Amino acid sequence: MIEIEPAVVNSSCAWASDYDQLLALYQSPYTGAVTTRTSTLNGFNEDPNIHTVAFAQHGTTSANSYGYSPNPLSQYISWIQSILTSSSSSSSSSSSSKKKPFIISLTTSTPTDLSSMFSQVQLFRKSNTVDPSLIAIELNTSCPNIPGAPPSAYIPTSGGVLASLLAVMRDAHAQDPTLVLGIKLPPYVYTDQFVQVIHLLKEFSYSSQASSPDEHPIATTTNPFSFLTCTNTLGNSLLLLDGNQEFALPTPLGGLAGDAIHALALGNVYTFRQLLSTDPVLKNTKLIGVGGVTSKEAAERMRKAGADVVGCATLLGKLGVKAFEVIAGIDA
Ligand SMILES: Cc1cc2nc3c(=O)[nH]c(=O)nc-3n(C[C@H](O)[C@H](O)[C@H](O)COP(=O)(O)O)c2cc1C
Repeated sequence: MIEIEPAVVNSSCAWASDYDQLLALYQSPYTGAVTTRTSTLNGFNEDPNIHTVAFAQHGTTSANSYGYSPNPLSQYISWIQSILTSSSSSSSSSSSSKKKPFIISLTTSTPTDLSSMFSQVQLFRKSNTVDPSLIAIELNTSCPNIPGAPPSAYIPTSGGVLASLLAVMRDAHAQDPTLVLGIKLPPYVYTDQFVQVIHLLKEFSYSSQASSPDEHPIATTTNPFSFLTCTNTLGNSLLLLDGNQEFALPTPLGGLAGDAIHALALGNVYTFRQLLSTDPVLKNTKLIGVGGVTSKEAAERMRKAGADVVGCATLLGKLGVKAFEVIAGIDA
């Protein structure tokens, strides 16, 4: 796993979309890593008349109709390279001139595109311009807003789209076990869904040989997935502007986030923690808990539910990087 200290990140979102936003997230002394907005191989056609976000008037809840970033993966690689190699981009906190990791969020529904994207990331990691241990990949399998491309993680079955993508991840990891891979999952709502995900993950564990201290080869089973990020937004939600009957989004349906999904996100993290901890192969999988982390108390609840790291998007959208001071309890 990458080292995330403090154990707080932004989750992938529209406020981690361009260079300035990524730099501000990197420079905040209260983030331990930066997650990019989800990119695709060639960029996504963003239409401001359709793709947008709205906030509820009370509390910290959002609904959004965004697709993926208009910027392709190659653009994020080049921005990350420039942030990590620039001496002036370190955090303003004197104690943390240490470089922070980036989690590159990416997606596709085709294994060939995923292979190409992995090749780009691997070329970057091996380019000697950055420390490869600072780069992780998160496969977004859970955006509810793409017509014709449903979130693959809602069908976690052998032979499905998700399985075909996990196979690419497994192969990339088998070639380079230093690769840190994670999966962004949607909110699930009943037990069998979680169990199916666990079964599918186990299908992609692979056998490898390690050396014992006396140099004898020993067979080990390797889980290629270092972390799960739970959860993405709750799709098909209809937010109405307070005080009147107007739809908050032009679509008008979108992905719900923030306070409104906090209990569901906690339940997802809790369930995965229970299931992972009893599995001999998957038990070391880390959880990034996301969903309604809008206060220090909410972050504590997320950790209590089983998150190793907490993340937020809606609070970041509302407050900018000051959000991370709120989560740290600085801004009581
Ligand atoms: C405006 C907006 C854009 C988002 N874009 C992405 C994205 O590109 N990729 C992704 O994996 N999740 C995306 N998300 C989901 C967030 O990462 C997060 O999972 C979700 O919003 C729940 O966290 P929150 O309650 O802190 O907002 C987005 C959320 C919002 C509000």
